[in-house]
Amino acid sequence: MEIFRIQGSTPLEGRVKISGSKNSALPLFAAALLTDEETILENVPNLSDVNFMAEILSELGAEVRRINSNSWSIRPVSIIHYAPYELVRKMRASICLLGPLVARLGRAEIPMPGGCVIGNRPIDLHIRALRGLGADVELSEGIVKVDAKQISGNSIFIGGRNGSTVTGTANAIMIAVLTPGLTVLEGSACEPEIADLCRMLKSMGANIEGIGSHLLKIEGVTKLKGCRHKVIPDRIEAGTYIIAAAITGGELIVEGIDPSHLGSFLDLLRTSGLRYKQHKDSIEISTSQRINPLEVVTLPFPGFPTDLQAQICALASITPGLSIITERVYPSRFMHIPELLRMGAHISIEGSSAIIRGTDKLKGAPVMASDLRASAALVLAGLAAEGETWVQRIYHLDRGYENFENKLGELGAIVERLDESELPKSIYSLKSHLNS
Ligand code: EPU
Repeated sequence: MEIFRIQGSTPLEGRVKISGSKNSALPLFAAALLTDEETILENVPNLSDVNFMAEILSELGAEVRRINSNSWSIRPVSIIHYAPYELVRKMRASICLLGPLVARLGRAEIPMPGGCVIGNRPIDLHIRALRGLGADVELSEGIVKVDAKQISGNSIFIGGRNGSTVTGTANAIMIAVLTPGLTVLEGSACEPEIADLCRMLKSMGANIEGIGSHLLKIEGVTKLKGCRHKVIPDRIEAGTYIIAAAITGGELIVEGIDPSHLGSFLDLLRTSGLRYKQHKDSIEISTSQRINPLEVVTLPFPGFPTDLQAQICALASITPGLSIITERVYPSRFMHIPELLRMGAHISIEGSSAIIRGTDKLKGAPVMASDLRASAALVLAGLAAEGETWVQRIYHLDRGYENFENKLGELGAIVERLDESELPKSIYSLKSHLNS
Protein backbone atom coordinates (compact mmCIF):
# COMPACT_ATOMS: atom_id res chain seq x y z
CA MET A 1 0.00 0.00 0.00
CA GLU A 2 1.05 3.57 -0.60
CA ILE A 3 1.38 6.38 1.92
CA PHE A 4 1.91 10.14 1.91
CA ARG A 5 4.78 11.79 3.72
CA ILE A 6 3.93 15.46 4.28
CA GLN A 7 6.38 18.08 5.47
CA GLY A 8 4.11 20.73 7.00
CA SER A 9 4.06 24.47 7.72
CA THR A 10 4.46 25.74 4.13
CA PRO A 11 1.85 28.33 3.02
CA LEU A 12 0.34 27.27 -0.31
CA GLU A 13 0.65 29.75 -3.15
CA GLY A 14 -0.35 29.82 -6.82
CA ARG A 15 -3.21 28.61 -8.98
CA VAL A 16 -5.00 25.30 -8.95
CA LYS A 17 -7.42 24.03 -11.59
CA ILE A 18 -10.35 22.02 -10.26
CA SER A 19 -11.29 18.72 -11.95
CA GLY A 20 -14.72 17.44 -12.94
CA SER A 21 -17.02 16.27 -10.15
CA LYS A 22 -16.73 12.64 -9.04
CA ASN A 23 -20.26 12.61 -7.65
CA SER A 24 -21.61 13.92 -10.95
CA ALA A 25 -19.53 11.68 -13.18
CA LEU A 26 -20.52 8.39 -11.51
CA PRO A 27 -24.31 8.73 -12.00
CA LEU A 28 -23.68 10.15 -15.50
CA PHE A 29 -21.83 6.96 -16.45
CA ALA A 30 -24.84 5.00 -15.16
CA ALA A 31 -27.23 7.27 -17.10
CA ALA A 32 -25.40 6.45 -20.33
CA LEU A 33 -27.01 2.98 -20.03
CA LEU A 34 -30.43 4.54 -20.67
CA THR A 35 -29.81 4.60 -24.43
CA ASP A 36 -28.30 2.16 -26.93
CA GLU A 37 -26.53 5.08 -28.66
CA GLU A 38 -23.10 6.52 -27.89
CA THR A 39 -22.67 9.01 -25.04
CA ILE A 40 -19.49 11.04 -24.71
CA LEU A 41 -18.59 12.38 -21.29
CA GLU A 42 -16.02 15.18 -21.01
CA ASN A 43 -14.26 16.74 -18.01
CA VAL A 44 -14.43 13.37 -16.23
CA PRO A 45 -12.00 13.27 -13.30
CA ASN A 46 -9.23 10.69 -13.59
CA LEU A 47 -10.00 8.68 -10.44
CA SER A 48 -10.09 5.07 -9.30
CA ASP A 49 -13.88 5.27 -8.68
CA VAL A 50 -14.41 6.31 -12.30
CA ASN A 51 -12.28 3.38 -13.47
CA PHE A 52 -14.40 1.01 -11.32
CA MET A 53 -17.58 2.41 -12.85
CA ALA A 54 -16.17 2.00 -16.37
CA GLU A 55 -15.25 -1.61 -15.52
CA ILE A 56 -18.75 -2.37 -14.22
CA LEU A 57 -20.35 -0.88 -17.34
CA SER A 58 -18.10 -3.09 -19.49
CA GLU A 59 -19.09 -6.15 -17.44
CA LEU A 60 -22.73 -5.24 -18.08
CA GLY A 61 -22.00 -5.40 -21.81
CA ALA A 62 -21.43 -1.74 -22.73
CA GLU A 63 -18.58 -0.73 -25.05
CA VAL A 64 -16.58 1.65 -22.89
CA ARG A 65 -13.64 3.51 -24.39
CA ARG A 66 -11.34 6.03 -22.82
CA ILE A 67 -10.83 8.80 -25.40
CA ASN A 68 -8.21 10.62 -23.32
CA SER A 69 -7.47 11.03 -19.61
CA ASN A 70 -10.68 13.05 -19.03
CA SER A 71 -13.10 11.91 -21.77
CA TRP A 72 -14.97 8.63 -22.18
CA SER A 73 -17.22 7.09 -24.79
CA ILE A 74 -19.98 4.69 -23.67
CA ARG A 75 -22.07 2.69 -26.15
CA PRO A 76 -24.34 0.19 -24.45
CA VAL A 77 -25.96 -1.53 -27.43
CA SER A 78 -26.89 -4.63 -25.48
CA ILE A 79 -26.58 -5.00 -21.71
CA ILE A 80 -27.41 -7.53 -19.01
CA HIS A 81 -29.52 -6.83 -15.91
CA TYR A 82 -27.22 -8.00 -13.12
CA ALA A 83 -24.03 -6.43 -11.80
CA PRO A 84 -21.16 -8.51 -10.38
CA TYR A 85 -20.70 -8.38 -6.59
CA GLU A 86 -16.88 -8.39 -6.89
CA LEU A 87 -16.96 -4.97 -8.59
CA VAL A 88 -20.06 -3.46 -6.97
CA ARG A 89 -18.77 -4.03 -3.44
CA LYS A 90 -15.79 -1.75 -4.14
CA MET A 91 -17.93 1.32 -4.62
CA ARG A 92 -21.21 2.32 -3.01
CA ALA A 93 -22.07 4.61 -5.92
CA SER A 94 -22.72 1.50 -8.03
CA ILE A 95 -26.23 1.59 -6.52
CA CYS A 96 -26.83 4.23 -9.25
CA LEU A 97 -26.98 1.39 -11.77
CA LEU A 98 -30.29 0.22 -10.33
CA GLY A 99 -32.31 3.01 -12.00
CA PRO A 100 -30.91 2.67 -15.53
CA LEU A 101 -31.08 -1.15 -15.56
CA VAL A 102 -34.71 -1.09 -14.39
CA ALA A 103 -35.63 1.64 -16.89
CA ARG A 104 -33.92 0.03 -19.86
CA LEU A 105 -34.53 -3.69 -19.19
CA GLY A 106 -37.54 -3.77 -16.84
CA ARG A 107 -35.54 -5.69 -14.24
CA ALA A 108 -32.31 -5.46 -12.27
CA GLU A 109 -30.25 -7.38 -9.74
CA ILE A 110 -27.70 -5.39 -7.78
CA PRO A 111 -25.83 -6.59 -4.69
CA MET A 112 -26.97 -4.53 -1.70
CA PRO A 113 -24.22 -2.04 -0.77
CA GLY A 114 -22.74 -2.96 2.61
CA GLY A 115 -21.95 -0.87 5.68
CA CYS A 116 -19.65 2.10 5.46
CA VAL A 117 -17.36 3.92 7.88
CA ILE A 118 -19.18 7.24 7.46
CA GLY A 119 -22.35 5.76 8.97
CA ASN A 120 -25.49 3.85 8.23
CA ARG A 121 -26.28 4.07 4.51
CA PRO A 122 -29.61 2.36 3.89
CA ILE A 123 -31.37 2.25 0.49
CA ASP A 124 -34.99 2.27 1.73
CA LEU A 125 -35.70 5.52 -0.14
CA HIS A 126 -34.44 4.06 -3.43
CA ILE A 127 -36.80 1.13 -2.84
CA ARG A 128 -39.66 3.47 -1.91
CA ALA A 129 -39.30 5.18 -5.31
CA LEU A 130 -39.29 1.84 -7.16
CA ARG A 131 -42.34 0.54 -5.31
CA GLY A 132 -44.08 3.92 -5.77
CA LEU A 133 -43.84 3.37 -9.53
CA GLY A 134 -45.29 -0.12 -9.18
CA ALA A 135 -42.13 -2.28 -9.22
CA ASP A 136 -41.76 -5.50 -7.20
CA VAL A 137 -38.62 -5.32 -5.07
CA GLU A 138 -37.23 -8.13 -2.97
CA LEU A 139 -34.00 -8.62 -1.10
CA SER A 140 -32.64 -12.13 -1.35
CA GLU A 141 -29.12 -13.46 -0.63
CA GLY A 142 -27.88 -9.87 -0.23
CA ILE A 143 -29.10 -8.91 -3.70
CA VAL A 144 -31.76 -6.31 -4.48
CA LYS A 145 -33.97 -7.89 -7.14
CA VAL A 146 -36.38 -5.67 -9.04
CA ASP A 147 -39.11 -6.67 -11.44
CA ALA A 148 -40.49 -3.55 -13.10
CA LYS A 149 -42.30 -4.82 -16.21
CA GLN A 150 -45.54 -3.05 -15.22
CA ILE A 151 -44.55 0.37 -13.96
CA SER A 152 -46.13 3.76 -14.58
CA GLY A 153 -45.73 7.37 -13.45
CA ASN A 154 -46.90 8.34 -9.96
CA SER A 155 -46.42 11.00 -7.25
CA ILE A 156 -43.79 9.91 -4.75
CA PHE A 157 -42.28 11.59 -1.70
CA ILE A 158 -38.65 10.49 -1.47
CA GLY A 159 -37.36 12.61 1.45
CA GLY A 160 -36.03 10.79 4.53
CA ARG A 161 -35.13 11.34 8.20
CA ASN A 162 -31.85 13.03 7.30
CA GLY A 163 -33.23 15.03 4.39
CA SER A 164 -33.16 14.17 0.72
CA THR A 165 -31.13 11.35 -0.81
CA VAL A 166 -28.72 12.18 -3.64
CA THR A 167 -28.24 8.80 -5.33
CA GLY A 168 -31.82 7.80 -4.41
CA THR A 169 -33.07 10.85 -6.32
CA ALA A 170 -30.71 10.03 -9.22
CA ASN A 171 -32.16 6.50 -9.40
CA ALA A 172 -35.77 7.71 -9.25
CA ILE A 173 -35.13 10.25 -12.04
CA MET A 174 -33.36 7.71 -14.25
CA ILE A 175 -36.32 5.31 -13.96
CA ALA A 176 -38.98 8.00 -14.43
CA VAL A 177 -37.52 9.34 -17.70
CA LEU A 178 -38.37 6.07 -19.47
CA THR A 179 -41.53 5.20 -17.48
CA PRO A 180 -44.89 5.89 -19.17
CA GLY A 181 -46.91 8.77 -17.66
CA LEU A 182 -46.10 11.65 -15.31
CA THR A 183 -43.87 11.07 -12.28
CA VAL A 184 -43.76 13.75 -9.60
CA LEU A 185 -40.84 13.44 -7.19
CA GLU A 186 -41.36 15.44 -4.01
CA GLY A 187 -38.49 15.88 -1.58
CA SER A 188 -35.91 15.34 -4.35
CA ALA A 189 -32.29 16.18 -3.67
CA CYS A 190 -31.34 19.44 -5.42
CA GLU A 191 -27.53 19.05 -5.28
CA PRO A 192 -25.71 20.49 -8.33
CA GLU A 193 -24.81 16.90 -9.28
CA ILE A 194 -28.53 16.06 -9.58
CA ALA A 195 -29.11 19.15 -11.72
CA ASP A 196 -26.17 18.06 -13.90
CA LEU A 197 -27.74 14.61 -14.34
CA CYS A 198 -31.08 16.22 -15.30
CA ARG A 199 -29.35 18.44 -17.86
CA MET A 200 -27.64 15.46 -19.47
CA LEU A 201 -30.91 13.51 -19.53
CA LYS A 202 -32.63 16.48 -21.19
CA SER A 203 -30.03 16.52 -23.92
CA MET A 204 -30.74 12.79 -24.37
CA GLY A 205 -34.40 13.69 -24.97
CA ALA A 206 -35.91 13.38 -21.47
CA ASN A 207 -38.76 15.58 -20.34
CA ILE A 208 -37.93 17.03 -16.89
CA GLU A 209 -39.28 20.15 -15.16
CA GLY A 210 -38.16 21.72 -11.89
CA ILE A 211 -34.41 21.09 -12.34
CA GLY A 212 -32.50 22.35 -9.29
CA SER A 213 -35.57 22.21 -7.01
CA HIS A 214 -37.08 19.74 -4.52
CA LEU A 215 -40.03 19.06 -6.85
CA LEU A 216 -39.32 17.34 -10.14
CA LYS A 217 -41.96 16.58 -12.77
CA ILE A 218 -40.95 13.97 -15.31
CA GLU A 219 -43.04 12.86 -18.29
CA GLY A 220 -41.73 9.51 -19.50
CA VAL A 221 -40.57 9.10 -23.12
CA THR A 222 -40.20 5.85 -25.06
CA LYS A 223 -36.56 6.24 -26.09
CA LEU A 224 -33.52 8.34 -25.28
CA LYS A 225 -30.64 9.17 -27.62
CA GLY A 226 -26.90 9.53 -27.07
CA CYS A 227 -25.32 12.89 -26.28
CA ARG A 228 -22.09 14.72 -25.50
CA HIS A 229 -21.95 16.15 -21.97
CA LYS A 230 -19.37 18.04 -19.92
CA VAL A 231 -19.26 17.16 -16.21
CA ILE A 232 -19.57 20.10 -13.77
CA PRO A 233 -16.56 21.11 -11.63
CA ASP A 234 -16.04 19.28 -8.34
CA ARG A 235 -17.30 21.62 -5.60
CA ILE A 236 -15.86 19.39 -2.86
CA GLU A 237 -12.38 19.37 -4.43
CA ALA A 238 -12.67 23.18 -4.76
CA GLY A 239 -13.68 23.53 -1.09
CA THR A 240 -10.79 21.29 -0.04
CA TYR A 241 -8.22 23.54 -1.81
CA ILE A 242 -9.84 26.68 -0.38
CA ILE A 243 -9.44 25.17 3.10
CA ALA A 244 -5.86 24.21 2.20
CA ALA A 245 -5.15 27.92 1.57
CA ALA A 246 -6.85 28.94 4.83
CA ILE A 247 -5.16 26.28 6.97
CA THR A 248 -1.65 27.09 5.68
CA GLY A 249 -2.16 30.86 5.63
CA GLY A 250 -1.50 30.88 1.90
CA GLU A 251 -2.71 32.81 -1.14
CA LEU A 252 -4.43 30.73 -3.75
CA ILE A 253 -6.48 31.11 -6.90
CA VAL A 254 -8.85 28.17 -7.20
CA GLU A 255 -10.06 28.15 -10.80
CA GLY A 256 -12.43 26.29 -13.09
CA ILE A 257 -15.20 26.27 -10.48
CA ASP A 258 -18.82 27.36 -10.22
CA PRO A 259 -19.01 29.60 -7.09
CA SER A 260 -22.81 29.22 -7.01
CA HIS A 261 -22.25 25.59 -5.94
CA LEU A 262 -20.28 26.74 -2.90
CA GLY A 263 -22.66 29.37 -1.42
CA SER A 264 -23.06 28.10 2.18
CA PHE A 265 -19.38 27.12 2.40
CA LEU A 266 -18.11 30.51 1.18
CA ASP A 267 -20.61 32.30 3.42
CA LEU A 268 -19.24 30.44 6.45
CA LEU A 269 -15.66 31.37 5.60
CA ARG A 270 -16.60 34.99 4.89
CA THR A 271 -18.41 35.38 8.23
CA SER A 272 -15.37 33.83 9.92
CA GLY A 273 -13.13 36.51 8.49
CA LEU A 274 -11.49 34.75 5.51
CA ARG A 275 -10.72 37.29 2.82
CA TYR A 276 -11.38 36.27 -0.75
CA LYS A 277 -12.47 37.65 -4.11
CA GLN A 278 -15.10 35.83 -6.07
CA HIS A 279 -14.94 35.84 -9.88
CA LYS A 280 -17.18 34.16 -12.47
CA ASP A 281 -15.33 30.84 -12.36
CA SER A 282 -12.65 31.26 -9.73
CA ILE A 283 -12.01 32.28 -6.13
CA GLU A 284 -8.93 34.20 -5.02
CA ILE A 285 -8.09 33.63 -1.37
CA SER A 286 -5.77 35.76 0.70
CA THR A 287 -5.39 34.60 4.27
CA SER A 288 -3.04 37.03 5.95
CA GLN A 289 -5.43 37.23 8.93
CA ARG A 290 -6.37 34.40 11.28
CA ILE A 291 -10.03 33.47 11.04
CA ASN A 292 -12.59 33.36 13.87
CA PRO A 293 -14.07 30.18 15.37
CA LEU A 294 -16.49 28.30 13.14
CA GLU A 295 -20.06 27.22 13.76
CA VAL A 296 -21.16 24.72 11.14
CA VAL A 297 -24.18 22.49 10.62
CA THR A 298 -24.05 20.13 7.64
CA LEU A 299 -27.23 19.81 5.59
CA PRO A 300 -28.30 18.73 2.12
CA PHE A 301 -27.67 21.35 -0.61
CA PRO A 302 -27.81 24.35 -0.46
CA GLY A 303 -26.69 23.78 3.15
CA PHE A 304 -23.08 23.18 4.20
CA PRO A 305 -21.92 19.91 2.54
CA THR A 306 -21.16 16.90 4.71
CA ASP A 307 -18.32 16.12 2.28
CA LEU A 308 -16.44 19.22 3.57
CA GLN A 309 -17.11 18.56 7.26
CA ALA A 310 -13.90 16.62 7.97
CA GLN A 311 -11.77 19.25 6.20
CA ILE A 312 -13.44 22.08 8.14
CA CYS A 313 -12.73 20.17 11.39
CA ALA A 314 -9.03 20.25 10.44
CA LEU A 315 -9.23 24.02 9.91
CA ALA A 316 -11.13 24.54 13.20
CA SER A 317 -8.38 22.58 14.99
CA ILE A 318 -5.94 25.45 14.42
CA THR A 319 -8.45 28.30 14.64
CA PRO A 320 -8.19 30.02 18.05
CA GLY A 321 -11.39 29.78 20.14
CA LEU A 322 -14.23 27.31 20.35
CA SER A 323 -15.72 25.90 17.12
CA ILE A 324 -18.79 23.66 16.94
CA ILE A 325 -19.29 21.41 13.92
CA THR A 326 -22.60 19.52 13.80
CA GLU A 327 -23.18 16.67 11.35
CA ARG A 328 -26.84 16.28 10.28
CA VAL A 329 -26.42 14.15 7.15
CA TYR A 330 -24.28 11.32 8.60
CA PRO A 331 -24.52 11.91 12.38
CA SER A 332 -21.53 9.67 13.18
CA ARG A 333 -19.17 10.77 10.38
CA PHE A 334 -16.30 11.60 12.74
CA MET A 335 -13.66 8.96 11.96
CA HIS A 336 -11.11 11.71 11.33
CA ILE A 337 -11.35 13.05 14.90
CA PRO A 338 -9.23 10.38 16.68
CA GLU A 339 -6.53 10.91 14.02
CA LEU A 340 -6.61 14.71 14.45
CA LEU A 341 -6.24 14.14 18.22
CA ARG A 342 -3.00 12.26 17.47
CA MET A 343 -1.75 15.47 15.87
CA GLY A 344 -2.49 17.52 18.99
CA ALA A 345 -6.00 18.80 18.21
CA HIS A 346 -8.40 19.40 21.14
CA ILE A 347 -11.72 17.90 20.13
CA SER A 348 -14.55 16.17 21.93
CA ILE A 349 -17.57 14.58 20.33
CA GLU A 350 -20.97 15.21 21.87
CA GLY A 351 -23.77 13.44 20.05
CA SER A 352 -23.48 14.51 16.43
CA SER A 353 -21.31 17.56 17.20
CA ALA A 354 -17.55 18.00 17.35
CA ILE A 355 -16.55 20.61 19.91
CA ILE A 356 -13.15 21.93 18.88
CA ARG A 357 -10.87 24.15 20.97
CA GLY A 358 -8.39 25.57 18.50
CA THR A 359 -4.71 25.17 19.22
CA ASP A 360 -1.84 27.27 17.85
CA LYS A 361 -0.08 24.40 16.12
CA LEU A 362 -0.70 20.81 15.18
CA LYS A 363 2.23 18.40 15.31
CA GLY A 364 3.04 15.92 12.54
CA ALA A 365 2.22 12.27 13.36
CA PRO A 366 1.51 8.95 11.66
CA VAL A 367 -2.23 8.86 10.93
CA MET A 368 -4.61 6.43 9.29
CA ALA A 369 -7.11 7.43 6.60
CA SER A 370 -10.55 5.84 7.01
CA ASP A 371 -12.53 7.26 4.08
CA LEU A 372 -12.15 9.74 1.27
CA ARG A 373 -12.97 13.01 3.04
CA ALA A 374 -11.36 11.98 6.34
CA SER A 375 -8.16 11.35 4.36
CA ALA A 376 -8.35 14.81 2.81
CA ALA A 377 -8.75 16.32 6.29
CA LEU A 378 -5.59 14.51 7.48
CA VAL A 379 -3.62 15.80 4.49
CA LEU A 380 -4.79 19.36 5.25
CA ALA A 381 -3.85 18.95 8.91
CA GLY A 382 -0.45 17.61 7.81
CA LEU A 383 0.11 20.66 5.57
CA ALA A 384 -0.44 22.94 8.56
CA ALA A 385 1.42 20.84 11.15
CA GLU A 386 4.95 21.21 12.43
CA GLY A 387 7.15 18.34 11.26
CA GLU A 388 6.30 15.24 9.28
CA THR A 389 2.89 13.62 8.92
CA TRP A 390 2.56 10.11 7.48
CA VAL A 391 -0.90 9.41 6.03
CA GLN A 392 -1.59 5.72 5.55
CA ARG A 393 -4.26 4.08 3.30
CA ILE A 394 -4.19 6.90 0.76
CA TYR A 395 -6.04 4.71 -1.75
CA HIS A 396 -9.10 6.44 -0.29
CA LEU A 397 -7.77 9.75 -1.69
CA ASP A 398 -7.24 8.27 -5.15
CA ARG A 399 -11.00 7.59 -5.26
CA GLY A 400 -11.86 11.28 -5.17
CA TYR A 401 -8.93 13.71 -5.69
CA GLU A 402 -7.34 13.78 -9.13
CA ASN A 403 -3.58 14.12 -9.02
CA PHE A 404 -3.71 15.32 -5.39
CA GLU A 405 -0.04 15.32 -4.45
CA ASN A 406 1.03 16.87 -7.77
CA LYS A 407 -1.56 19.65 -7.59
CA LEU A 408 -0.49 20.36 -3.99
CA GLY A 409 3.18 20.15 -5.00
CA GLU A 410 2.66 22.85 -7.66
CA LEU A 411 1.36 25.10 -4.88
CA GLY A 412 4.53 24.60 -2.85
CA ALA A 413 3.41 21.78 -0.56
CA ILE A 414 5.89 19.02 0.21
CA VAL A 415 3.90 15.81 -0.24
CA GLU A 416 5.53 12.57 -1.39
CA ARG A 417 3.82 9.32 -2.36
CA LEU A 418 5.88 6.44 -1.00
CA ASP A 419 5.55 2.74 -0.56
CA GLU A 420 4.42 1.72 2.94
CA SER A 421 7.74 -0.05 3.43
CA GLU A 422 9.35 3.40 3.66
CA LEU A 423 7.57 4.16 6.92
CA PRO A 424 10.20 4.70 9.62
CA LYS A 425 10.74 1.70 11.91
CA SER A 426 9.22 3.49 14.92
CA ILE A 427 5.97 4.01 12.99
CA TYR A 428 5.94 0.43 11.71
CA SER A 429 6.04 -0.90 15.23
CA LEU A 430 3.34 1.57 16.25
CA LYS A 431 1.25 0.31 13.33
CA SER A 432 1.53 -3.31 14.37
CA HIS A 433 0.69 -2.24 17.91
CA LEU A 434 -2.45 -0.39 16.65
CA ASN A 435 -3.51 -3.36 14.51
CA SER A 436 -3.13 -5.86 17.32
N1 EPU B 1 -30.60 7.75 3.46
C1 EPU B 1 -31.64 6.99 3.92
N2 EPU B 1 -32.23 6.11 3.07
C2 EPU B 1 -31.84 5.96 1.79
C3 EPU B 1 -30.75 6.74 1.31
C4 EPU B 1 -30.15 7.63 2.17
O1 EPU B 1 -32.05 7.10 5.09
O2 EPU B 1 -32.44 5.14 1.06
C5 EPU B 1 -29.94 8.70 4.37
C6 EPU B 1 -28.45 8.42 4.54
O3 EPU B 1 -28.25 7.46 5.56
C7 EPU B 1 -27.92 9.79 4.90
C8 EPU B 1 -28.78 10.72 4.06
O4 EPU B 1 -29.97 9.97 3.74
O5 EPU B 1 -28.16 10.06 6.25
C9 EPU B 1 -28.14 11.22 2.78
O6 EPU B 1 -27.66 10.12 2.03
P1 EPU B 1 -27.60 10.14 0.44
O7 EPU B 1 -28.45 9.06 -0.10
O8 EPU B 1 -27.88 11.53 -0.04
O9 EPU B 1 -26.10 9.79 0.17
P2 EPU B 1 -25.55 9.06 -1.11
O10 EPU B 1 -26.41 9.41 -2.27
O11 EPU B 1 -25.32 7.63 -0.82
C10 EPU B 1 -24.01 10.99 -1.94
C11 EPU B 1 -22.54 11.17 -2.20
C12 EPU B 1 -21.78 11.19 -0.88
C13 EPU B 1 -22.32 12.34 -0.04
C14 EPU B 1 -23.84 12.18 0.15
C15 EPU B 1 -24.49 13.35 0.89
C16 EPU B 1 -22.28 10.12 -4.34
C17 EPU B 1 -21.71 9.02 -5.15
N3 EPU B 1 -22.07 10.08 -3.03
O12 EPU B 1 -24.13 9.75 -1.27
O13 EPU B 1 -20.43 11.46 -1.21
O14 EPU B 1 -21.70 12.35 1.22
O15 EPU B 1 -24.49 12.06 -1.14
O16 EPU B 1 -24.27 14.53 0.21
O17 EPU B 1 -22.87 11.04 -4.89
C18 EPU B 1 -18.09 11.43 -0.90
O18 EPU B 1 -17.99 11.94 -2.03
O19 EPU B 1 -17.11 11.33 -0.12
C19 EPU B 1 -19.40 10.92 -0.46
C20 EPU B 1 -19.54 10.08 0.55
